Amino acid sequence: MTAASGSTSERESLLLLAIETTCDETGAAVLEGLRPPASGVPVVRSSVVSSQISLHDRFGGVVPEIASRAHVRQILPVIDEALRRAKVRLEQIGAIAVATRPGLVGSLVVGLTAAKSLALALNVPLIAVDHLECHLYACQLANPDRKVYPCLGLVVSGGHTSLFACRGPLETELLGGTIDDAAGEAFDKVASLLGLGYPGGPEIEKAAKSGNPRAFAFPRAFLHEDRLEFSFSGLKTAVLYALRGQDGKSAESSVEPQRIADLAASFQEAVVDVLVAKTGQALDRLGFDKVGIGGGVAANSRFREKLAEMAKARGVELFVPPMSLCTDNAAMAGVAFPKLAAGLVSTLDIDVTAGLVRPGR
Ligand code: KG4
Ligand code: ZN
Repeated sequence: MTAASGSTSERESLLLLAIETTCDETGAAVLEGLRPPASGVPVVRSSVVSSQISLHDRFGGVVPEIASRAHVRQILPVIDEALRRAKVRLEQIGAIAVATRPGLVGSLVVGLTAAKSLALALNVPLIAVDHLECHLYACQLANPDRKVYPCLGLVVSGGHTSLFACRGPLETELLGGTIDDAAGEAFDKVASLLGLGYPGGPEIEKAAKSGNPRAFAFPRAFLHEDRLEFSFSGLKTAVLYALRGQDGKSAESSVEPQRIADLAASFQEAVVDVLVAKTGQALDRLGFDKVGIGGGVAANSRFREKLAEMAKARGVELFVPPMSLCTDNAAMAGVAFPKLAAGLVSTLDIDVTAGLVRPGR
């Protein structure tokens, strides 16, 4: 939980309840910001996340039906807990924000239904937010005294690997993304191949610490091509072949721990090289002097290290949120404040959207 670090006067301040159920984390947060037309970066009064990892780990990935059922069970307790930790009563809430895209439809519907019900009951504005804009806004939330926008944005998560030209928190133009797996998805699938746990990112990172990142020369798709796209499916297959031979079946049992560590380190290095190189290419092409990173993979310390080197070499300011704001959480829906200031309030007939819808708002 992030503690409040100051508050505005009651007359000017607005308490917003934010809800996040796009994938497998049920999140609720209370944020305090300035009442429109004033604007500014809100303060996080509380942020609660109920993780579903233990429900999905034996499947090696998120099972949509299990995710939506768990959201149904968790959404009200999580909202209650967020209010309790913020020391705020429901009647004090002046606006509701909810991520309505992109994500798993069944999961999104649970959050949106809760948000609509509360907005209707409290008679307060409902603000629908884009999950990817939320991930990038986490950079601003974590750096309230610095100006993050305009910047290049990179969202790297279990479902997305996308580069954006962010002229403002709500002006995010998609530059390119993955043509197959997302980076986080590749971490999860490779961890499963290597017999490591779920979610795969932290497990691979841990195993990689005792491995040699140059032990295997894994492919780095599009590395030297002038396109802002990613592909990780070939890399995943290369790890499979290195582990089990070209038929994908050999040596299934008893792989030495050092070989697993080397495979993990070499895989991680290949993903990180591509992510950092493409971010550099996008910076060169668009000329931004700031870059913001969001999504669960931004928790990876090797990625952070190489990004920092790249940004320093280019003289670019780098924003990477703390871990708690990298992985899915509701606090990052604080992007609702600029949205509210811009008058972008949703009506109660709004629906969820599974995929990226751009540039439509
Ligand atoms: O943003 P997020 O919490 O949820 C989605 O919107 O997908 O990201 C989850 C993803 C998972 O694929 C997980 O394996 C990955 O982020 N991840 C990591 C690390 N921590 C989480 N990947 C690499 N290294 C990490 N330390
Ligand atoms: Zn996410």
